[in-house]
Amino acid sequence: MPTPHIEAGPDAFAELVLLPGDPLRAQEIAEGFFTDPVRVTAVRNMYGFTGTFAGKPVSVMGSGMGIPSMLIYATELVREYGVQRIVRVGTCGSVSPRLRLGDLFLASGAGTDSSVNRIRFKGYDLGATPSFDLLNRVYQKAVEHELPVQVGPVFSTDLFYAADPEQVSLLEQFGFLGIEMEAAGLYGLAMQEGFEALAVMVATDSLLTHESVSPEMRQSGPRNAIQVALEALLG
Ligand code: HPA
Repeated sequence: MPTPHIEAGPDAFAELVLLPGDPLRAQEIAEGFFTDPVRVTAVRNMYGFTGTFAGKPVSVMGSGMGIPSMLIYATELVREYGVQRIVRVGTCGSVSPRLRLGDLFLASGAGTDSSVNRIRFKGYDLGATPSFDLLNRVYQKAVEHELPVQVGPVFSTDLFYAADPEQVSLLEQFGFLGIEMEAAGLYGLAMQEGFEALAVMVATDSLLTHESVSPEMRQSGPRNAIQVALEALLG
């Protein structure tokens, strides 16, 4: 059952996997939130861990940055390890005054400049959308915790350093709230493979005002996102 990129044994992953970009963040999540976490893979230092939360099995694994890296791991988790729910947890840039720094952001749809979904969907435009059930549960839990939360479209770009200086204002005009580099690819894979996906992010930078969150909030924001996601899906 090991794949070219994951060395874990056949039943090493839980049905629910949290997918941060950074493998060290995956380790922090496992050590900070899971009971009895075990590292199940470390190929290329892309760590994956499985433990329990509220008595239920759960995994976390790094994905790297950008759609192509993330899709290698997500595809292998789903096709080879039977993973049924993948929740990307990460940061994003805000492209709208509606998404304030530190806000939790659940992507209800994802546009992209990547061609991956067109390749999958034979040239048609895919309305890349998450699992409503996952989104609804995480949203309700965030409201219960009185955390500031926004729901709306995200733009998943292949170019962190954008080629188009007008991109941010175009995204704002079309009602996008945030920009990051993975959600559209994850949602497209989920639609093709029939698993449930959601991207839960924290806005850490504004591309409108060029402000960033404080170092404390850069730590606490993602922690809140993970706590809410785990409670919503396993609590
Ligand atoms: N662009 C793309 N991805 C990001 C950004 C950004 O500004 N901030 C966090 N992830």
